[in-house]
Amino acid sequence: MNIVAIMASYRKGRTIDTLVDRAIAGTLAANPGATTEKITLIDKHIEYCRNCMACRDDDPSKPLARCVIQDDMQAIYPVLDAADAYIIGTPINMGNETALFKTFVERCCFVFAKPGTFPMKGVPTPRGTRKRRAVAILSTGVVPPWMRLLCDDATPLIKDFCKTMLNARLLDTLYAGAIEKRTVDYYTQAAFQLGRELVR
Ligand SMILES: Cc1cc2nc3c(=O)[nH]c(=O)nc-3n(C[C@H](O)[C@H](O)[C@H](O)COP(=O)(O)O)c2cc1C
Repeated sequence: MNIVAIMASYRKGRTIDTLVDRAIAGTLAANPGATTEKITLIDKHIEYCRNCMACRDDDPSKPLARCVIQDDMQAIYPVLDAADAYIIGTPINMGNETALFKTFVERCCFVFAKPGTFPMKGVPTPRGTRKRRAVAILSTGVVPPWMRLLCDDATPLIKDFCKTMLNARLLDTLYAGAIEKRTVDYYTQAAFQLGRELVR
């Protein structure tokens, strides 16, 4: 099993980075034969999508459409495509994923998806047919888990990214809320279990 983790925090060694590492450890504990790769987005040169639509208008039978931007996403696309499962981690800032993660998702959109036809004209549907799985880890500084529904618009985006682009089912999520008060340690065991769940 090939697992790819996407780490979309601006800070290395902090909440999301730590919890993604724990989830990776959980996958390896449950499946020692698994291969894992972690993509730390902040280390990559990722330009904004230019809305040129070269990807959307590329041959829909291709498993990966062409992106014209020559940056680090060119090496990331095949890594994502070769994965069986994903661990996705992003902080929640002002209710949403980081701008880093959104930039990455926009660059993935019609590379991994093709536009639907009538009656879903234009709606992204996965190019790939291989079924995959995913889990997600989100964090906030002060908003506790019981208030999640009011201020988490990141999870629906991740769910949509998984379903319409990666052809992955989002199995479960860990909401690491109020980490300024609780500290990261409070959530490390849950992140480990989430990793185990991904490969079970
Ligand atoms: C621009 C910005 C906006 C943020 N907005 C919120 C917020 O509305 N509510 C909250 O609880 N935390 C907020 N935070 C805190 C982050 O969610 C928190 O620092 C992050 O989850 C920690 O992840 P990290 O340690 O991986 O960076 C915000 C942080 C930034 C930088």
